[in-house]
Amino acid sequence: MNIGDVIVKKNLFDKYGGVTTIKLILEKFYKILLSRMWAKKMFINVDMEKLLLHQIQFVSFAMGKPESEFDDERLRKGHAGLKITEEQYDETIDILVKVLTDFRVKFADIKLIGNAIESKKHLIVNVPVIKSLDKKKVRKLNEQEQYNKTKLV
Ligand code: HEM
Repeated sequence: MNIGDVIVKKNLFDKYGGVTTIKLILEKFYKILLSRMWAKKMFINVDMEKLLLHQIQFVSFAMGKPESEFDDERLRKGHAGLKITEEQYDETIDILVKVLTDFRVKFADIKLIGNAIESKKHLIVNVPVIKSLDKKKVRKLNEQEQYNKTKLV
């Protein structure tokens, strides 16, 4: 076994330097994203410092940080009503891939991160705003789902 083998077995979060690197990656990512007019418009009135913190949590999760998770509901709410199109999503992913490549993240690892984000695409693209009446429905569905889970174990 060589040093490379040991590193590969670690999660990607630690492998690429943890929060310090992720912060640098995200700063570069937002610099490029916000140079696009369509994206800039969506971030008016958004507290970017708070957003950066949330993004760090999300990317840490996507990179396999142990015991990290990201609440789907937060992701859904963050994008609800923004009418993000498939094309805009793809362009955003392209920017992320470019930045990760610039930071020398290996192609196979970029793919893993991409897969983790892809599994959340439905919480990003064309997400409707749920009206307060529907929220009750969602809560009921979630409760039912939890109940069903407890019955399974
Ligand atoms: C492609 C993958 C994307 C990922 C992984 C992602 C991830 C996130 C995360 C983690 C948050 C923070 C949610 C929270 O408040 O806890 C967020 C918020 C946000 N995202 Fe995205 N996002 C993506 C694409 C986009 C795109 C294409 C846009 C449109 C330009 C966008 C616009 C926003 C805005 C405006 C917020 C802030 C909402 C607010 O605080 O009011 N996102 N995103």
